[in-house]
Amino acid sequence: MRLLEASLWVVFSSILSTSISSHQFATDGTVLELNESNFDAALSTFDYIFVDFYAPWCGHCKRLAPELEKAAPVLAGLMNPIVTAKVNADKYTRIAAKYEIDGFPTLKIFMHGVPTDYYGPRKADLLVRFLRKFVAPDVAVLSSDSAISDFIEAAGTNFPVFVGFGFNESEITDLAIKYKKKAWFSVAKDFSEDVMVLYDFDKMPALVVLHPGYNEQSIFYGPFEEWRGGDNGTLAVSSSFITVEERLGTRMSSEKFLEDFIKQSLFPLSLPINQETLKLLKDDKRKIVLTIMEDETEDRSKQLIKILKAAASANRDLVFGYVGVKQWQDFAESFEVYKKTELPKMIVWDGNEDYFSVVGSESLTDEDQGSQVTRFLEGYREGSVIQKQISGPSVMGYINSLIGIRTIYIIVFVVAVLMLIRTINKEEPLTVGTRNQAESNDSSTDKED
Ligand SMILES: *[C@@H]1O[C@H](CO)[C@@H](O)[C@H](O)[C@H]1NC(C)=O
Ligand SMILES: *[C@@H]1O[C@H](CO)[C@@H](O)[C@H](O)[C@H]1NC(C)=O
Ligand SMILES: *[C@@H]1O[C@H](CO)[C@@H](O)[C@H](O)[C@H]1NC(C)=O
Repeated sequence: MRLLEASLWVVFSSILSTSISSHQFATDGTVLELNESNFDAALSTFDYIFVDFYAPWCGHCKRLAPELEKAAPVLAGLMNPIVTAKVNADKYTRIAAKYEIDGFPTLKIFMHGVPTDYYGPRKADLLVRFLRKFVAPDVAVLSSDSAISDFIEAAGTNFPVFVGFGFNESEITDLAIKYKKKAWFSVAKDFSEDVMVLYDFDKMPALVVLHPGYNEQSIFYGPFEEWRGGDNGTLAVSSSFITVEERLGTRMSSEKFLEDFIKQSLFPLSLPINQETLKLLKDDKRKIVLTIMEDETEDRSKQLIKILKAAASANRDLVFGYVGVKQWQDFAESFEVYKKTELPKMIVWDGNEDYFSVVGSESLTDEDQGSQVTRFLEGYREGSVIQKQISGPSVMGYINSLIGIRTIYIIVFVVAVLMLIRTINKEEPLTVGTRNQAESNDSSTDKED
């Protein structure tokens, strides 16, 4: 009996060891080269594996490769290590088909074998920041003042940071999962009064959101009561005939307050519009109050941006954005901004082809801009507007391109045609500034066929 057991064990363990040793992967922070025979084994070996599906002939892939090599050892050294791998998806077509690879490079992070597309930046340092985000806990529990500041520091400047004070993590877990790719979430458990002063809140529960990249923060005090499941206040109206389903429904609609705050706080109160932020805005259904100014960096622009922030915090159903003609001329000019147009100019844009001018509030003068912004918003809400269409095919083309990667090919074509037309018409060439902007955007987000 013992003999049988022992021999079974030997057989079993030898099967086990051969099946393991047949796929041994280096975990020294190099980029693993995978193929059809070891791809699945890699997925099941590593909790987190970041895969570059490349083609040897693709230029963007070649530019990405050294960045991956730089990022790989850092990713391998994280508390939740991420293994970096690449697979020639042009050659291993079965893998390419399985993961629906239709462009190169395609990047995916596999978490416990489940793929998620990665559209983040491709420079090594930023890539590390974005990937860290993917593998972080949904809600970090911070139990000291220094844990709070360390968390915020480590979060970097690419995402907003939410810190719940007087919350239990279970209360925001669902939303944290839902918005995981767009923000950091945490709850603070033990902290001193200094923290309340530092983050400027005076009661709890409070949800603080920080935009480290924009040096901005705001606070949400609720309503949390209804959301916490009470049948008090506004919900009492219908409580006489509430069923279980309805109760769940009302609870969910109360939770919407919190979700709305989170959704609306993914952007800073006043958002500079550039190629990156415009891409993020695509996911937001709100209309955009767009202020077009001469130059975003001037002192008087900064004054106005402050006013816009104040207006934004009182009008959270709208996004407040601004753009300097100096910063992005092509975009600004799509809204009837000419040399003689008085700036700053305000419009309400639907994020697509249409926008509205408010009658009598087209441009702001220098005096008391706060009241002028208020009048603009009143005029807009009263419907005292003129509807217009965005001009300039290049900007609309750009905006449309945000819908899907494939359209980038079309844009390239359109831009080529436009440049041809420009050359034929012997108009002024593209300015160096816009060209650089376009290029830097290109390298971080575009795909090559
Ligand atoms: C896949 O890669 C492994 C390790 O480099 C190698 O041993 C194996 O032969 C490769 N298989 C195929 C099908 O290329
Ligand atoms: C707080 O959250 C933890 C983890 O989700 C849970 O186990 C605990 O019951 C919650 N406490 C309260 C008071 O809700
Ligand atoms: C509703 O709120 C009031 C005070 O605002 C409180 O006295 C009452 O107990 C609450 N009722 C329930 C059911 O929570």
